[in-house]
Amino acid sequence: MAVLGILAALGLFLGAANAATLGVVYTEGGMVEGKNNVVGLFRYMDVFKAIPFAAQPGRFQKPVPHPGWTGVLKATDFAKRCLQLDLLQTGTRGSEDCLYLNIWVPQGRSVSTGLPVMIFFYGGAFLWGGSQGANFLDNYLYSGEEIADRGNVIVVTANYRVGTLGFLSSGDSELPGNYGLWDQHAAIAWVNRNIKAFGGDPDNVTIFGESAGGASVSFQMLSPHNKGLIHRAISQSGVALCPWAVNRNPRAYAEQVAQRVGCPTDQTMFSCLKMTDAVELTLAGTISLDGSPANPIVKNLALSPVIDGDFLPDDPSTLFSNAADIDYLAGINDMDGHIFTGVDVPSVNQPLHSTPVEDVKELLTSLTSEKGREAAAAAFDQYTANWGSNPAKDDIKKTVVDIETDYIFLVPTQTALYLHAKHANTARTYSYLFTEPSRMPVYPSWVGADHADDLQYVFGKPFATPLGYFPRHRKVSKYMIAYWTNFAKTGDPNTGESDVPVAWPRFTEEGHQFVDINHSMGKDSVKQKLRTRFVYFWTSTFASFPNVN
Ligand SMILES: *[C@@H]1O[C@H](CO)[C@@H](O)[C@H](O)[C@H]1NC(C)=O
Ligand SMILES: *[C@@H]1O[C@H](CO)[C@@H](O)[C@H](O)[C@H]1NC(C)=O
Repeated sequence: MAVLGILAALGLFLGAANAATLGVVYTEGGMVEGKNNVVGLFRYMDVFKAIPFAAQPGRFQKPVPHPGWTGVLKATDFAKRCLQLDLLQTGTRGSEDCLYLNIWVPQGRSVSTGLPVMIFFYGGAFLWGGSQGANFLDNYLYSGEEIADRGNVIVVTANYRVGTLGFLSSGDSELPGNYGLWDQHAAIAWVNRNIKAFGGDPDNVTIFGESAGGASVSFQMLSPHNKGLIHRAISQSGVALCPWAVNRNPRAYAEQVAQRVGCPTDQTMFSCLKMTDAVELTLAGTISLDGSPANPIVKNLALSPVIDGDFLPDDPSTLFSNAADIDYLAGINDMDGHIFTGVDVPSVNQPLHSTPVEDVKELLTSLTSEKGREAAAAAFDQYTANWGSNPAKDDIKKTVVDIETDYIFLVPTQTALYLHAKHANTARTYSYLFTEPSRMPVYPSWVGADHADDLQYVFGKPFATPLGYFPRHRKVSKYMIAYWTNFAKTGDPNTGESDVPVAWPRFTEEGHQFVDINHSMGKDSVKQKLRTRFVYFWTSTFASFPNVN
């Protein structure tokens, strides 16, 4: 017994002594120490939480470098989110002191070096979100552990300012806006300067993000300020060309916020807003979330990036030459618009209720309002061409979801892919459609992949919380992590350390190839020309109608 005990103790001792870990890491701000977890046989994970990548930002200012610290910073707890509204928009959470990032570094028998790096930016309509994501049973949505372990890459997740403090803009140099985009840029630049000390390769940096985070990825690629800092990029359900991603008249909303906090709207607006309490300013940045066919919520997302002549020198559609050497992988979920449609037209989720054709007309009229009646009628003709004389209840509902999916996500994403391929120099372009059906039991059975459904698979939740999933979900997750991390390593989703179920061809200007991602992938998953008729309608026919106001 005693001998066994000694052997066991010795084994534990040797095991601990053998754990590959970075220990204390020197960064530009000072020393940091994270935590080393055992994740498998001879597999370890160094996790660093809340490393500052910039100082606490000044109000409506670009971020500046952190002044640094003495001693060893214990990087073991997540930082607060950037100050933001709660989901009901009646209170706030988080802090103005929020420019921190988290790092997951996979280790094998020896300490890793030269690993590719993937930096994630969260979504949340530029109003909400945090670098660790929602917490469910101590399992954070954006934990980088599964991606890092399975793909052998470093994962970084970073905070950025949101809401009024992140995006309020007067449309001129007083309140230029885009503070949240500058935060993301500061995080990218910090990673480039410091990731080598964590075993990362600063010449192999991929940024990825979903929804507003996907659009953020697109803005970071298109901005001239990231030259040489980003090698590849992944946009999931969001690009800079989305109608909600740019506010072209930010002054109007800034004046509303000023009025709500009791500031004048004349030339003293900026100095007054700057002195206003941060919580009060955040509370003033609410948006209307009671959608209806006549007022769909996508039209109310006012706190977005702006064309400021600096971070974004011009309209995003004109900036693709800045991304000519950045490999790009982008896609959408087949029913990305479903969650929004459920708010705007609740009958789509009510099996006992039909959706009136009037609602379809009204929705199209509001989505096409700047082009007038004729454009709305043309859109109605496009979307009802296959209805026949007596469309089934579910056909009408699916049409409403298609309309919102096309308008909010699909058409802008196809346009971004096309422009990226057209302007590419060395860069490769890849397109996907994610179709694994929603797991929400309350939805009708025809609901496909809803907005944000892809995140759980990319972050490996079917492995992290296996009881919540079926084996088929682990397949989807394995496929996505393989494609995503191969792409981060080589710029080609097919080539790298992980096997993939089918070769994913490049998207070209002529072929428009894409893969259909779900749990049963094979050669039939490779497709071409996603909803070309509707992409053509919105980008050509619709665009050619004159504006009416
Ligand atoms: C990135 O990493 C891969 C695999 O480790 C390596 O082959 C490549 O040279 C690195 N650099 C770039 C710029 O791709
Ligand atoms: C999964 O992909 C295959 C291949 O593209 C397709 O035939 C199938 O319909 C997809 N499944 C779902 C649920 O969309």
